[in-house]
Amino acid sequence: MSETLDLLHKRRSVVALNMTEPGPTKDDLEAILRAGMRVPDHGKLSPWRFVIIEGDARLTLGRVLADVFRAGNSGIEQERVEFEAARFARAPVVVCVVSRAQEHAKIPQWEQVLSAGAVCQNMLVAASALGYASQWLTEWYAYDATVQKALGLDGGEKVAGFIYLGTAKEAPQERVRPEFDDVVQHWKDPAAS
Ligand SMILES: Cc1cc2nc3c(=O)[nH]c(=O)nc-3n(C[C@H](O)[C@H](O)[C@H](O)COP(=O)(O)O)c2cc1C
Repeated sequence: MSETLDLLHKRRSVVALNMTEPGPTKDDLEAILRAGMRVPDHGKLSPWRFVIIEGDARLTLGRVLADVFRAGNSGIEQERVEFEAARFARAPVVVCVVSRAQEHAKIPQWEQVLSAGAVCQNMLVAASALGYASQWLTEWYAYDATVQKALGLDGGEKVAGFIYLGTAKEAPQERVRPEFDDVVQHWKDPAAS
C-alpha cells in the first residue's frame, strides 16, 4: 500500500486538549497551508482564506471568547470563563479557514463551500504527513458574530473550521468507522428488475 493511501486510511484527529508543543515550524506551517490551497476549486475562485492564530494572539483572541461567553451566561463560574479564554491556547497554532463563498453566475455557492471543506481536510492530511497532531473544530465560537468580527470576517464570510495544530501528548485510539456496505451501494436501474 502506498504511503499516501496508508496515511489516508489511518489518519486520526487528536483532540485539542491532548495537544502540546511543538507546533509546526514556519516552513511546515507554510507547507500545510499550501496543501490546503491546492484543492479542487471550480472556477478558480479561491473561495477561502486563512487567519493564523499563534503566540500571544491565542490568548488575546481568547479574551473575546471569554467576554462573549460571560455576557451570554450570567452567573457562570469564573473557572469556565477562563476555560473559554484558553481555548485557542490548547494548541501551539490554530488556523481559521474562512469560507468566502459568493453568489456567482456559474459556480454554485454550495461548490465553493465544499472547496473550503476540502481545504480543511487537506490541511489535516498534510499535518499528519509531517507528524503533527491536528483537529478540525468549530465549537460555539465559529458561529458567534462578535468572534467572527474579531477575526476580521466580512459580511457573508463564514468559519469553515479552526484547524488546531500541535504535537500529540498521547497517540489517539482508533474510532468507530462506518461499515463499508452501509455507505457504499452500486446504482441499479429500478426499471431493470
Ligand atoms: C466541520 C466540522 C466541524 C467539527 N467541529 C467539531 C467540534 O466542534 N467539536 C468536536 O469535538 N469535533 C468536531 N469535529 C470532529 C473532529 O474534527 C474529528 O473529526 C473527530 O474528532 C473525529 O476524529 P477523526 O478525524 O479521527 O475521525 C468537526 C468536524 C467537522 C468536519
